[in-house]
Amino acid sequence: MNESKNLVLSAVDIWKSYGKDATYLSIIRGAGIEVSAGEIVSIVGPSGSGKSTFLHVCGVLDPPDRGTVSVGSMDVWSVNESRRARIRNSELGFIFQFHHLLEEFTLQENVAMPSMLAGNTRRDALDSAASLLAEVGLSDRGQHFPSETSGGERQRAAVARALILSPSVVLADEPTGNLDAANSRIVEDLMFELADRRSQAFIIATHSIELAERAHRSLSLEDGVLH
Ligand SMILES: Nc1ncnc2c1ncn2[C@@H]1O[C@H](COP(=O)(O)OP(=O)(O)O)[C@@H](O)[C@H]1O
Ligand SMILES: [Mg+2]
Repeated sequence: MNESKNLVLSAVDIWKSYGKDATYLSIIRGAGIEVSAGEIVSIVGPSGSGKSTFLHVCGVLDPPDRGTVSVGSMDVWSVNESRRARIRNSELGFIFQFHHLLEEFTLQENVAMPSMLAGNTRRDALDSAASLLAEVGLSDRGQHFPSETSGGERQRAAVARALILSPSVVLADEPTGNLDAANSRIVEDLMFELADRRSQAFIIATHSIELAERAHRSLSLEDGVLH
């Protein structure tokens, strides 16, 4: 399916609401997206427009009311939960506005964590983590704890952690939203390098017009629809 474009993720006619009766909010109203290997697609939209909601549906974290999400050729919301959990862990990577690194573990252990949880040996996981840390420019920081590193370094470590299991697509929700201009640029450059070098696909929700304009494709979320 879709081999010619090498689609890694497609979402079709997604609808998502919250609450009911007096608290009912219809947030996503027939939105869709297609992302190919190596492609960076940005989603911009005002705060509250539903960017995080849409990413959570695409990332198999939260079910849509209607619509389909395919990762590769797998319709992820139609398979059972254990299969879905496997796809979530092995095919999808996540980067959030806040790094969510575990403070009591070193950067190397943090990056290795998803691999250990997936059943790889500690040694293998730490080795892959070391090479990914080198790839994101942190080869000398693996033994440091998050509190000993800068905000930009922590976010680069979060990027490395998202990549450790070689996901088909990384979903990044305001990945530079908590960084100053210089560090935002470093993290942005890193994502573009990874897209080129590893054919890594990204969907990035962002407020940053600069980042959105740099993306290979930029979509805008308005009234629950992506244009
Ligand atoms: N769990 C929830 N229950 C009810 N409303 C929610 C929930 N999550 C988000 N919302 C509402 O949905 C809208 C979209 O939120 P969100 O997806 O976080 O937007 P964005 O990421 O674009 O800022 C907002 O009005 C928000 O208050
Ligand atoms: Mg959001």
